[in-house]
Amino acid sequence: MADTYDTLLIERHADGYAVVTLNRPEALNALNSALFTDLAAFLDAVEHDDTVRCLILTGSGDKAFAAGADIKEMADQTYAEMYRGNFFAHGHDRIVRFRKPIIAAVNGFALGGGCELAMLCDFIVASDKAKFGQPEINLGVAPGIGGSQRLTRLVGKSKAMDMVLTARMMDAAEAERAGLASRVFPHDQLLDETRKIAARIAAQSPLAVMANKEMVNAALETTLTQGVQFERRLFHSLFAFEDQKEGMTAFIEKRKPDFRGR
Ligand code: HXC
Repeated sequence: MADTYDTLLIERHADGYAVVTLNRPEALNALNSALFTDLAAFLDAVEHDDTVRCLILTGSGDKAFAAGADIKEMADQTYAEMYRGNFFAHGHDRIVRFRKPIIAAVNGFALGGGCELAMLCDFIVASDKAKFGQPEINLGVAPGIGGSQRLTRLVGKSKAMDMVLTARMMDAAEAERAGLASRVFPHDQLLDETRKIAARIAAQSPLAVMANKEMVNAALETTLTQGVQFERRLFHSLFAFEDQKEGMTAFIEKRKPDFRGR
């Protein structure tokens, strides 16, 4: 399959995951319209491809995951252009709709739109050199790809407010403490460790993976009572799949399950 994009490098792995590398190293992987168009196209291409069960999103080069939306692209935009074009809404919404897990492997700066893109992923693993921030206020603007909402949900109001108003960066240790990153790895081991995580997810029942992702995401959108009800119904429905029988039978027979996504 041709995975050729101007702004992304794609590596599909036989273990059932793909590594998507943001590839504008000359601009510290700044996010422009072309990159979001490419990312949306790749998500379309793999949404129903059973050989890809989990994605890793990372940045090219040694320095950045993504240093933000592309300031050079935005600088001369008018309000009418931003509003009519619904700037970055399509890319944002496409990622939100994607039903398979995306792990952000943050290998350096994740600033502004870069931090927002990482938070759009299902969870963040970070290099010990990672730096997170929402420094848009320095440019006279504000987060625009969901950052004010997702950061506040992830780290709480006090830290989120501190970050957006002062533009200060969080290092990896603080990000892990605050709940922004789930794990931190030594810089040179980040991708190898993330590959292990992706391969582990890809070996699970893809149906159960989807359901688990859907449930956890529901927690941010609903009341506790509605969320628990949603979880219960989805849990019950998993018993309609062969994968549930296979998973439980394999446990009882003391063997590895062979999940087929049925
Ligand atoms: C365009 C960028 C960029 C960006 C870096 N570059 N960030 N280009 N958009 N967001 C470019 C630089 O212009 C430079 O190009 C090259 O990448 C290397 O960057 P340097 O600044 O020389 O590197 P360094 O001194 O190491 O500083 C690294 C840095 C700094 C601290 C990350 O680049 C920086 O502050 N970048 C901007 C971070 C930021 O404000 N992000 C928020 C953007 S607004 P040249 O051609 O000079 O070599 C945003 C809004 C989201 O994200 C909402 C949208 C809807």
